[in-house]
Amino acid sequence: MCGIVGYIGERQAQQVLLHGLEKLEYRGYDSAGIAVFDGQTIRVKKKLGRLANLENTLNGHGLPGVLGIGHTRWATHGRPSDANAHPHGDCTGRFVVVHNGIIENYLRLRQELQQAGHKFRSETDTEVVAHLVESLYDGDLLRTVFKAAAKLRGAYALVVMSAEEPGRLVAVRKHSPLVVGLGDGENFVASDIPALLHYTRDVYVLEEGEVADITAKAVRCYRLDGTPVSKEVLKVTWDVDAAEKGGYEHFMLKEIYEQPKAVADTLTGRLSDDNRAVLPELDWALGMARGIDRIHVVACGTAYHAGMVGRQILERLTRIPVEVEVASEYRYRDPIYTDHTLVLVISQSGETADTLAALREAKARGARVVAVTNVVGSSVAREADDVIITWAGPEIAVASTKAYTTQLVALYLFACYLAQLRGAADPATIEEVLAGLRDLPDAVSKVLDTAPAMKAFAQQFARKESAFFIGRGLDYVAALEGALKLKEISYIHAEAYAAGELKHGTLALIAEGVPVIALATQDHLYEKTVSNIKEVKARDAHVLALTWTGDEEMASVADEVLYLPRVSPWLAPAVVAVPLQLLAYYAAVERGNDVDKPRNLAKSVTVE
Ligand code: F6R
Repeated sequence: MCGIVGYIGERQAQQVLLHGLEKLEYRGYDSAGIAVFDGQTIRVKKKLGRLANLENTLNGHGLPGVLGIGHTRWATHGRPSDANAHPHGDCTGRFVVVHNGIIENYLRLRQELQQAGHKFRSETDTEVVAHLVESLYDGDLLRTVFKAAAKLRGAYALVVMSAEEPGRLVAVRKHSPLVVGLGDGENFVASDIPALLHYTRDVYVLEEGEVADITAKAVRCYRLDGTPVSKEVLKVTWDVDAAEKGGYEHFMLKEIYEQPKAVADTLTGRLSDDNRAVLPELDWALGMARGIDRIHVVACGTAYHAGMVGRQILERLTRIPVEVEVASEYRYRDPIYTDHTLVLVISQSGETADTLAALREAKARGARVVAVTNVVGSSVAREADDVIITWAGPEIAVASTKAYTTQLVALYLFACYLAQLRGAADPATIEEVLAGLRDLPDAVSKVLDTAPAMKAFAQQFARKESAFFIGRGLDYVAALEGALKLKEISYIHAEAYAAGELKHGTLALIAEGVPVIALATQDHLYEKTVSNIKEVKARDAHVLALTWTGDEEMASVADEVLYLPRVSPWLAPAVVAVPLQLLAYYAAVERGNDVDKPRNLAKSVTVE
C-alpha cells in the first residue's frame, strides 16, 4: 500500500510529483516525500503526515530539477515518521528508491549489507533496496536493477533513480500495480492512472514481473530475465472530472449520490427484453454451468459482505452449495476443491493482496476463477479466468459505497445467469430478481431522499460511543455492512448481530439509550424481527427501524421508523445500504472526522 510516482522530462519534476501524489493519497497518507536530481546530486525532502505537510516544507525551499520520484506512504515496516518516509537512499545518496509493497527477506538482506559496511537510517524494508542497488551497481542501472530484483522476495513496485545516470528511471512491477505514462519528450510512472491524467492519456500498464527503462525520449520494457517485451499503448478515455468531487463536500457523499447511475451502468446490456440475465463475458459457462458442484466466494471487508448476499441468492437460484469467506482466512485454510469448484472473487480495486493471493491459490488448485471487480486492467481482472466488471467508475473515498451496490448487482446477475443455464430451480424468483433489477436504479434514487432524515438522526446519534445493528437473513448481512461503514468513518463502535442471536449474550450490552438500528425488510422474517426489536425495547434501547413504505406496525414498536421504497426482499440489501451509508457519513461529519480518508485506513490494501 502506498502511492509512487516518477517523472523525467523538461518540466520541473517537483510540481509533477506533488500533483501525482495528491491523486494517489487515497493509497496511504502516513507520510510523503520526493527526491529530485538537481544536476549535481539527488535532493530528498520527506515529511510525516499528509502531503500538505510536505508541501509546506517545500514552500520557498523547493527542489529544482527535471528528474524525480515521489511517494505517499501507508506504513507497514516501521512506524510513520520522517525517517521512515520514502524516498530512501543508499549511504552515498547516489541511489534513491520509492517502493509500494513488502520486501519479505529484507531482514536477512539488511544484515548482509550491514556486515558489508552499509549504514541504515530507517526501520523500513525499502531502504535495503537502495543499499542493494548501490552494492550491485556495475555502471548500468537497468542491469543492476535486474540483479537486485533477483535477490528480493515479496510483492513490490519500485522506481529507482541514480545520480550516476540522471537520464533514466527504472521501474519494476512485482505484484503491486504500476503504469507508465507516455508524453512527448517526457515520461511518467505511477501506481495508478489518475496520477498521470493531467499530463497524458497514453499509458503502458506494466504486467507482473515487468521492468520499464524510462528516459525522457523512450520507454523500453523487459521481463525480469532481461527479455524485451513490446507493450500496447492503452488510451485512457475516462473523464478527468469523474475523479473530482463535483460540488459535493466529500467524495463519499458524491459517490453515495452516484449510485443510481452506477447501478444503471452496471445493468446496461445485461438484461434482455425477455427478462434474462445476459453476461457474454462468461461464455465458458454455456458448456460448464451444469457441472459446477460447489462455489467459494472470497473477498475482504465490504466486498465480503457483497459476497454474503451473493451466497444467499446463488444458493436459492442454483442450489449449488456456496461457501463465503474472508480472503485472509481462506488462503491459509487449505479449502476443499472438487473437480468442478468455481471460485468467485470480489474486489473493487482488484489489487487487494489477500484477495489476489486467494485467487492465485484457487487457480493453482485448478479451480475456475470468476472475478467481480471495478477496475479494468487490475491484477484481479488480469489474473482471473473471467471478469464481470462493475461499472461504478473510480471510487475515491476510502469507504466503499457505489462499488458495494454495483457488486450486489453483478452478483444478482451472475446468480440469475448461472441459474438460467442450469435449468432454473426457482424460475419465479429469477423473474422477481430480474424485474427488480430493472427498477433498482429508480429505487436507489428514491431512497436517497432519506438523506435529511438520516442527517437529523446522525446529529443526535453522533454523540454515542456504541451502536448495534440487527436483522435476520439478508437484513443481517445489510447490518454487517452498515456497522462496518459506521465504524470506519465515524469511529463509533458498532456491532452487527443476527437479531435472533442477541439473547445468547449480547443482549447484556443493551441498556437505556443504546442506539439499535433494526432492519426489517425480509417479509418472511418480519414477525420474528419485530419480536427481537421488542426485546431490546424492553431494555430501553433507542430503536431506529428501517422497513418498507406502507408498513403499519413498526411505528408502534420502534422509537423512529425510516420507510424505504419497496423492492423485492432479495434486492433489499442494495436499497438498505444507502441510508446506512448516509448515517455513517453524517455521523462522521458531525464528529468532525476526515470522511474520505479515515484514520489508519487506505483505499487499496496491497499488503497482507
Ligand atoms: C470498507 C472498504 C473495505 C474494502 C476492502 C476490500 O468500506 O472499502 O472493507 O471493501 O478493503 O477492498 P477491495 O474491494 O478493493 O478488494
